[in-house]
Amino acid sequence: MCRPAFYTIAYEINPWMDLNNPADHRNANRQWQYLYNLIENSGADISLIEPVKDLPDMVFTANAGLVYKDSIILSNFKHRERQGEEQYYAKWFSDLGYKRHRLQAGISYEGEGDTVFYKNIILLGYGFRTDLAAHTHIGEIIGKEYISLELIDPHFYHLDTCLLYIKPADLIVYYPEAFHPKSIEIIKGLPSKILQLSKEEAHLFVCNSVNIGMNLIVFKCPDTLYKKLEEFGLKIISADTSEFMKSGGSVRCMVLRLS
Ligand code: ARG
Repeated sequence: MCRPAFYTIAYEINPWMDLNNPADHRNANRQWQYLYNLIENSGADISLIEPVKDLPDMVFTANAGLVYKDSIILSNFKHRERQGEEQYYAKWFSDLGYKRHRLQAGISYEGEGDTVFYKNIILLGYGFRTDLAAHTHIGEIIGKEYISLELIDPHFYHLDTCLLYIKPADLIVYYPEAFHPKSIEIIKGLPSKILQLSKEEAHLFVCNSVNIGMNLIVFKCPDTLYKKLEEFGLKIISADTSEFMKSGGSVRCMVLRLS
């Protein structure tokens, strides 16, 4: 994770960001700390990367890259505004001895934000941030088969904003409207339990949640959905991420899984 020391809305690179709707610094720090404590109390070990001035979106570490075993595939950010983050993630992982991979310049890939580990394969998003051309390389580097899913709604510009796989429940939670019809068919065919979200639920970034075992950390979850998720055996824990929603990110964006 990365402390939101320099977090602010400094540019607009997705439809949620609005320079006229600034983030409240104190509140953002409070919300981040609450999330940090929740994750730590759930039993996870957390490593931190030092925040850097003028890189406000570094708090969204899910976009640093994709960690697989002892390797990191570093992101090539689509937008110039975030490209400055790349060197800091590269150094952090190299200092810890990770094998580093990077796609060739010109092919964009935004890490775990566009990648979901699913059973023995990976699901990769494309359409807004990650290029389709990146998928073959990602599959080759980590030696897994992959399925490409096309995103079509700019509000759901990363795969982790509209699809969540909760492994211990073998449950896929997704928002169909965010996907191209061909991709919806693919998702429907996956051999897991599937829960579809309504527009209202999806816009609360319910898919952008983090599970630690059967505990699911979500921003906001309407009562009806809460009940449905509980029926799958999940325990719902809420964490207010309203300050980060102003940047188009929630719980999952702020965490990069290392193992
Ligand atoms: N403002 C950031 C961006 O537009 C938010 C990133 C959210 N991250 C995520 N994994 N969905 O890049």
